[in-house]
Amino acid sequence: MLCLTPYMKHPYVSDVAKMERHMTRTALETFAQNLAADWGPLSTEVVEAAQRHMKTLLAACDNESWLGPLRQAGAPSTELVRDPQHGFVLQAHIEPQGLYRSPHDHGRNWVMYAVVEGVSEMGTYGRVEDPDGTVRLVKRNTTHVHPGEIQVYLPGDIHDTRCVAGSALLFRFTERDLRKDDQENHRITRYVDRNGVWVAP
Ligand SMILES: [Fe+2]
Repeated sequence: MLCLTPYMKHPYVSDVAKMERHMTRTALETFAQNLAADWGPLSTEVVEAAQRHMKTLLAACDNESWLGPLRQAGAPSTELVRDPQHGFVLQAHIEPQGLYRSPHDHGRNWVMYAVVEGVSEMGTYGRVEDPDGTVRLVKRNTTHVHPGEIQVYLPGDIHDTRCVAGSALLFRFTERDLRKDDQENHRITRYVDRNGVWVAP
């Protein structure tokens, strides 16, 4: 069963917006229903299917104006889809140029970022443990994610994001509600800057 997050709580509701929301629902329903049909424990096949369905959603964004009200509202985060059976969540994020999200993992979850507008610079990191027990991060690489492109991070992956051309509009798909999962002790690690080095908190 599909659950699209209600939009009524947002202030930009109007007849035009309602019509546009119908279009939104259509594109989102297609994404959510197709992904729910392909859903299962984390596997190469599930991730491939999710990326394929996300590509379809991104292509719909190219041709339709329904994201206009979302952009105009300017909310940093808007929940679009929450699947009541499988628990996956899709959010839209609007980020001003320069916004930086420091290195973090996603606990036990896998996630998918898709850029609709703007450019997001995403870096990945590996954990290194020093002889004194200090855990610090080593940056592996940096990728510029452009509109229509997707990045997937699996459980244990560590990454950061910086909006380098914005404002940017991104879709963030998560295997579960990350905030709830974090609160229920499936901890998400957010690294901290210590003299220019990212270390475990
Ligand atoms: Fe992330």
